[in-house]
Formats: sequence, structure tokens, C-alpha cells
Amino acid sequence: MKLISLVEILAQANQGRYAVGGFNINNLEFLQGIIGAAEELNSPLILQTSEGAMKYIGIDYVIGMVDAAVKNSPIPVALHLDHGSSFAVVMKCIRMGYSSVMFDGSHFPFEENIRLTKQVIEAAHAVGVSVEAELGKLGGTEDDLSVDEKDATFTDPEQAVEFVERTGVDALAVAIGTAHGVYKGKPELDFERLKTIKDKTNIPIVLHGASGLSDDDLKKAISLGVNKVNVNTDFQQVFAAKIREIFRNDRELYDPRKYCGPGRTAIKEKVMEKIRVLGSANQA
Ligand code: G3H
Ligand code: ZN
Repeated sequence: MKLISLVEILAQANQGRYAVGGFNINNLEFLQGIIGAAEELNSPLILQTSEGAMKYIGIDYVIGMVDAAVKNSPIPVALHLDHGSSFAVVMKCIRMGYSSVMFDGSHFPFEENIRLTKQVIEAAHAVGVSVEAELGKLGGTEDDLSVDEKDATFTDPEQAVEFVERTGVDALAVAIGTAHGVYKGKPELDFERLKTIKDKTNIPIVLHGASGLSDDDLKKAISLGVNKVNVNTDFQQVFAAKIREIFRNDRELYDPRKYCGPGRTAIKEKVMEKIRVLGSANQA
């Protein structure tokens, strides 16, 4: 399998001031729609699986599908674990062939987050696998991960500097007002905080919970130093909406190719839209 780590992909993005999509796959149609869009726009790509998606698809199937997708692909692709919750799950992914992992220790106290992240980085870097970590706590829900709005905490810039220095992490996910899942009101992002974190650390910054953000907010965040933009819900929504529409028009339909196929096309179109906003087209 021909996969590369985030280091190569994000170093280029950091230099060129654009962002690469960290796009979540939930099934075969997601994978095909996403990689099809990235290939058509000649964009680098970060395919990622949450632990929930890994359980749903089965890790062997993830590896098999991604292998089939990338082996003849002309674009650089990373396969990344999203929100890894333990050293054990990270090790499992690395052993299976993931080229990158996220260890999400954001729910632990600062020192514990550093200790656990360092442990992961030491093992991952020894075999050329990149590591994303998170500091600050995002609100919202993704799979089994749920954080009440009142428990969400923004990333402290001083802590970010210390975290990056002490861990040697490759990319840092920050909490600046985004949330996982569907937004209840209009998201208000703390751009000042983002700028300070980037200026002080100068490492690739990751924006989680990017579904539902306006193009202007995304572009501004990228101009201030975001280099990886995570999207899942937006693609789930267009897939579901297309299938609902098809069944509204034909209640007797039963061939999955006739609703999953158009669902896949809807994902591809949405991914192309995102890639254009992120600025990664023609950067492969
Ligand atoms: O880690 C994945 C993302 O942060 C996805 O968030 O579903 O709100 O787009 P989203
Ligand atoms: Zn996330």
C-alpha cells in the first residue's frame, strides 16, 4: 500500500498556506466519493477513520478498501486514525498499515495528556508514522465521543507552546469554537486565539468539527494557519439527503446500487466543493 504520513502533506500545506481535508470514511461509498473528488482536483488527501467507523467497517476491510483505492492513485494519500483513545488502538492501526494517527488526550489533565501523547509519539515516530494530538476540548458529538457545550474548553496558547515543545507532535488540533456534529446556532470562532497559537508554535494546526462552517470562516481559519480541516457530518448529511430524496420519488426501489450510487456522487460533489475552499486543488 502506498501511503504517506501527515508530515510530508502538512509541511507543504503549511508553507503554501492552504489546508488538506481530513475526510472521514464511513463505508465504501464514502471512500470512493472522497478519493474520486481528490483525484479529479489533483489534491493531496487525508483519509481518516474514527474508532466507531473502524468498528463498523472492520479494520481489515478498511485496509483492503484503502489499498485498492490508493495503489493506482496519482495523488498523495495518508490513512489516519481519527481521535484514537488509547495506546492500544494506535498500535493496532500502525501494525495494520495506517500511516498516521491521532491520539486524543484532550479529556485528560494537561500533564497526563502530555505524558500519554509522548508515549504514542515515541512509538509512532520510531516506525515513521505521524501523530496529531489535541489540546483544549471541543463540544459536540462524534460517534461515542460526546462533550457537553458547558464542558468545552478553548486551547490556551501558552499551554500549546509547552505542549508542542515537550511532545514533539506533528500537528495540533485546537479548540477555538468549533464543535463536532450539527451546530445548534451560528458558530463563533476565536480567530485571535488561533492566530496567537499559530504564531507561537508555527506547526500545522488542525480544525475539527468543520462541517457547517461558512466558506468565509474556513478561509479565514486557513489564512491564520489551519492546515488540516476535518469533515465528516457534511458528507453524512449529503449522502443521507440524496438517499431520502430517491426514496421519496420511488418508494418501491430496492437495488442498493440505485441509491448508494447517487449518494456516492453527492459525496464526491461536496468533497470537491470543500477542496476548492481549502485551497488544496492542484497541490498533489
Ligand atoms: O474528527 C472529525 C471531525 O472533527 C469531524 O467533525 O463531523 O463536525 O465535521 P464534523
Ligand atoms: Zn474531530
